[in-house]
Order: sequence, then structure tokens, then C-alpha cells
Amino acid sequence: MKQTLNKILLAITLLSLPFLTVAEEGMWLPQLLKTLNIDDMQSKGLKLSAEDIYDINNSSLKDAIVSFGGFCTAEVISNKGLILTNHHCGYGQIQSHSSVEKDYLTNGFWAMNASEELQNPGLTATFIIRIEDVTEATLANTLKENSELENQKIIASNIKTLKEENTKNTHYEAVIKPFFYGNNYYMFITETFKDVRLVGAPPSSIGKFGGDTDNWMWPRHTGDFSIFRIYADKNNQPAEYSPENVPYKPKHSLPISMKGIEKDDFTMVFGFPGRTQEYLTSYAVNFVTNIDNPAKINLREARLAIMDKDMKEDQAIFIKYAAKYARISNYHKKWIGENKGLVRLNAIQKKQELENKFTEWAKQNNELNSEYGLLLPEFKKIYNELNYLQLTQSYLYEAGFGIELLSLAYSFNTLVNAAENEKFDSEKFEKRKENLILKINAHFKDYNLATDQKIAPIVLKMYKEGVPKQYKPTIFDEIGTDYQKYAAQMYNKSILSKESETKEFVKNITPKSILQIKKDPAYRFIATILEDYKTKVAPQLQNLSAQIELMNRTYVKGLMEMQKDKKFYPDANSTLRLTYGKVDNYIPKDGVEYDYYTTLTGIIEKGALDVYDYVVPEKLAQLHENKDYGKYADKKGYLPVCFTASNHTTGGNSGSPVINAQGELIGLNFDRNWEGTMSDIMYDPEMCRNIAVDVRYILFIVDKFAGAGYLVDEMNLIFAEN
Ligand code: ARG
Ligand code: GLU
Repeated sequence: MKQTLNKILLAITLLSLPFLTVAEEGMWLPQLLKTLNIDDMQSKGLKLSAEDIYDINNSSLKDAIVSFGGFCTAEVISNKGLILTNHHCGYGQIQSHSSVEKDYLTNGFWAMNASEELQNPGLTATFIIRIEDVTEATLANTLKENSELENQKIIASNIKTLKEENTKNTHYEAVIKPFFYGNNYYMFITETFKDVRLVGAPPSSIGKFGGDTDNWMWPRHTGDFSIFRIYADKNNQPAEYSPENVPYKPKHSLPISMKGIEKDDFTMVFGFPGRTQEYLTSYAVNFVTNIDNPAKINLREARLAIMDKDMKEDQAIFIKYAAKYARISNYHKKWIGENKGLVRLNAIQKKQELENKFTEWAKQNNELNSEYGLLLPEFKKIYNELNYLQLTQSYLYEAGFGIELLSLAYSFNTLVNAAENEKFDSEKFEKRKENLILKINAHFKDYNLATDQKIAPIVLKMYKEGVPKQYKPTIFDEIGTDYQKYAAQMYNKSILSKESETKEFVKNITPKSILQIKKDPAYRFIATILEDYKTKVAPQLQNLSAQIELMNRTYVKGLMEMQKDKKFYPDANSTLRLTYGKVDNYIPKDGVEYDYYTTLTGIIEKGALDVYDYVVPEKLAQLHENKDYGKYADKKGYLPVCFTASNHTTGGNSGSPVINAQGELIGLNFDRNWEGTMSDIMYDPEMCRNIAVDVRYILFIVDKFAGAGYLVDEMNLIFAEN
């Protein structure tokens, strides 16, 4: 009797084990929390109900969450429309208001009252009004026997109708997107505000402290935040910028916890994650790990090495290339971490095991077998070809457009097309000309010819030798093997390597004169590559990708049938998601354990090293010296800076709030740890951590460092009860 009971207990534990280990994985749709997650969340410490998080009749947490410009997340933190996001998210706006005289990137910016806030044309803040399952209406009239192309046309027309019906007579917009590769469709009704003003930003030595040295790394000490304010018309509705506009009155603003955090505290992150691919087959993961990432990493490494050398030798080059370098190195570093993580996790093998199980499962009856039995061999067959096409595309982006001269040359393409179009449209031509002029100015502002010229022969060689033979651009036959000589000639003869000549050329450009550019060697080079790509690569790539999309749809549907008890979450696709976990440390490697939080002391320690990315502002050092932390110190006496938690996040979650069990703001998400960057493809609860700035550090900087305490007074601070 006891024996059997033990056996049953063991079986139950084993059954629930895989569930336990993946508990923190998942980017959940807020309207489905009530059916899928709320019990689990509450058992882990959440004190709120599903309706407190997402409700369409009453205000809820979701009403404080903002898609910031469509590329980051922000959250409302006061009743006067104040929103918080990352410094690296507001970077473009902060930069656009900066000049040599008022250098806000270097010195920070603080509006000391409403009249000093700065407007940002083009910047938007979008709220989600409601989310609806529209699968049935979207798929209406599609037929199994139709081709995918025919069905996609029907779907597109259904989506158009749905959007119109659901936004009629409102100022709302509707977004409808496929989930689970098109097994489901959800509609997001949105409200977009267009007057979003800059309120404050710390100096880069705080907002970007640690720079590329610390990027994707823990322990971290970055005060990666900036503050904006949403303005509305007098009816609290979205309006273009106007001095008459007033601060937006939000439906909900996040209270701010001053209570501090402990290890294992419940946390959730609410925001707009961009893209994950958790259901890829082993063939796709093999492509990423063994083919695509290595090629892209090598190409970026070559470029970065040359830039780095030149930047270190000349401060002017340093300034020109700082932002470019940061952008290129961000994903270079991420891919390296991702690959290490995928290898460490045995990701390919794990996927294969699941696939073998799937194929076995499908054998149990004819019906399953006919739908799923041949799916995996078919994946294998298609990837055998798709790999080459995708790699060719990666070379085009990373090598072709990785050479700045060629990238600039390609921006003439739309103008050439407009000029050659049979139905010439002079308005379109003028518009494109204006855009081109802007591009050219931006290009030369941050360009160093000698650096680019050093990169070109090296990257051309890698391109020619690495791109799949069957898709090698024909122009490479002309190059021979003396890449130095070829590149030197191209740079000599092209006008696009010469700033004043290029600017002169576009200033007076006409539909006729633009065609001269076709003889330019740099233009000819990239245009020929693009022509090859468009005729030999793109059509096949599109065709096979569409097939794979369809097969993934079937595969995920099958996985759901096979694993009936597993809760599935859809891949991130820039729609609103909630992920939950806990404040947690991690063990990056044998014998090393990282703590879950950092303090101001760590900033001072790093500052003592001779590293460019670690410069401590005088005033911050002073505040540390005097231990002048005010109410922002932890109860143990230190000033908190950053912390880690096990929330499943990705790019786009930058600026997302980290929220505690009571629905209060405890931190601002801005990064992931390097050891966990493979979570876009496979999540590992042992290793994957998101990184946040502690909200107390943010308030400390606003109040004690910048003297903008009036902003803190606007917020609703929650202190511990004694
Ligand atoms: N890794 C973070 C993200 O993916 C931060 C990037 C900005 N910071 C930097 N040092 N480049 O966006
Ligand atoms: N820094 C990323 C962003 O800009 C977030 C980090 C991540 O990829 O998790 O969205």
C-alpha cells in the first residue's frame, strides 16, 4: 500500500517537474491571464486579481503601460501624465535637443517647470484600450484547399474590414496580428498621443554608465532612465503639439514602492517585447547557431575592430562613431552570448528529442499521421535550401550594407527608380530627393572615410569567400583577389566618398542627372548585387519562408495537441505582454554566485578603474562620500542601483516597469544578462535574468543629484508600514 502510494507520489512529482522548471518562462497575453495564469501567479505571491491587471471596464495596470514610439516601453508614474522609460530609449530625443553649447547627452537635462519641457515632433505614446480574439472573423472564408497565397488575400481583406468596423467614429486605431504562426489572431484597440515632451534625463555618465563594456552584463550600475510627459487637449484626448495642450490625466498611474526588494519577491514585467522564436525546429536552431550567428558575428567583429582602433586614436572619430559602434556592438555581443547559451543548453539536441517524440506521437493513428507524420522530414528538406538563401541575405545586410560607402550608394536607389518609372511623379521625386539629402547629411556628419576604406577590402573578402557559392553576386567575378586594389579604385573613382562633391551633386539633381549615378562604381557595385538578389534570391526565399510559416503553424498546432496540459504562450511580436518571476540571483559558472542587487559603492569601485565607460560625476561621488541618500537608501543603509529578476523579457521590453506583488513600481527594465540571451530561442530558468534599475536610484538621481524633487512630489510613493 505504502509502496504504491509512494509510486503515485513519485509519478505526480515527475509529472509536475517539467512544469516547475519552466515556471518563469512565458510572455503572456494580458486578457488571458484570468484563464491561464492567475492561480499560478497568486500562488507565487501576487496580491492582485486578474482584473486589477487587465480590465476593459475599470482602470487597471494595463492603463499605465505605454508603447514608447513603437520601439520601447514606458509607464505612467504620476496623475499629470509623467512617463518613465530608459535613457537608451529617449537617446534620440535627448540628442536632438543637444548642441555643443547645451550638450544634454553629456550634462543631462532637467525641466524645472512645465515651460521648460521640450517638444519632440514624431514621438508617440500609445495605450492599449482593449484586446479581442478575432481568430474566427479573420479566418472567415479561408479554405484548406486554397493556396496559402489565396488565403492570405482573404485574411488581409477580413482584417481591413475588422479594423474599419472596430474604429468607426472613434479616434482609436486597431492592430490585428497573427499569433502561433497564424493559428490565432488578436486585435488591439489603441489610443495614440502625439504630444510627448522631454522632462528630464541624467548625464550619460549615469544614464549610460558602463557603456558597451557592461552592456548585456551583470553586475550592472547603469541609471538607464529618462522622463517624459504626455500632453492632451482640454478633453484629455490626443492632439498634435500645441501650447494649449495640458498634461494628460491617466486612467492609472503606477504607485512607487519605497519598501525595497528581497530575494524571491514576486515580480512582473508589463510591456511590448519585440520578437522571440521559441517554437523553432532543430533545423532552424542549427541554422542560427552554426551558420547565421557565426557569420554575422565575424563580419561585425571585423568592422568593430577597425572602428575601435581608429576611435581610440582620434577623439573626433570617437565622437562620430560612438553611437554607430554602440549599435553594431549591441547585437554582436548578444549573438555571441546567445550562441554560448544555446550550446550550453544543448538546444539542438533538446529540439530533436521533442521532434522525435512528436513523430512517434503522430504514428498512433492514421489521422494524426497524415497531418503530422511527414512534417519534420519536410522541415529538414526545406531548411537544406533555405539556409543558403537566408545566409545570402545576412551577407547582404551585414557585409554589403556594412560598408558605409555602399550603404550610402544604395540610398540613391529609390530616386533612380522614381526617375525611371514610366509614370513619373514629380511630387514623389521631390519628396525622395529631400529624404536623400537628409540621409547624406546624416551620413557625412558621422563619417570617417579612412575608417570605411579600411573596412571595405576586409569585408569584401569575407563576403566573397563566405556567401554561398550558388548565390554569389556576379560582380564578385570582377574583383579578383586583390581586394585592396579593387576597393582603392572604387573609393577613388566614386563621387560618394567625397562629401562636397556628393552634396553638390544632389543639390541640383534632376530626373535626368540622377541617372549619372548609375555609372558611379560604388552605386554600380551595390545595385548589381541587389539586382542579383532580387532575381535569384528573394523570390525563392519568400516562397520557402511562406512554406515554413505554414509548416510552423501546423507544427505548433500539433505540439499543442500532443502536450495537452502544457500552457503555451505565443512568441513576442511587439504586442502587450506580461511576464512574471521573482527577484533572483544566479550562478554564471561553477564556483561563482552573483548577488541579485548592486549599490552605489560599486559605481565608485568601477570609477577607480581606468576604463572609458566608467566615469563618475563629481556630484555623485560627493553624495556617496557624505552618504547623503535621503529617503532613498535601503533599510540596511546602502543606496541600491540595479537588480536582477527571473522575468522572461526581450528587446522592446526596454523601459518596461518591474512591478511587485501589490502592483507598485520597483524597477525599470533595461537589459538581460549575457548568460541568458538565448532566451529568445530557449529559456533557462537557472540562467535567464532581466536587469532593472532600482526605482529608488532613479528617484535619488532626480531629487538629490538633479534637484528636480518637484517631480518626485508628483508621484505616489508607498512606504513600508512600521
Ligand atoms: N543591451 C540593451 C538593449 O538591447 C541596451 C543597449 C544600449 N546600451 C549600450 N551600451 N549599447 O537594448
Ligand atoms: N535593451 C533591450 C531593449 O532595448 C532590452 C534588453 C533585452 O533584449 O532583453 O529593449
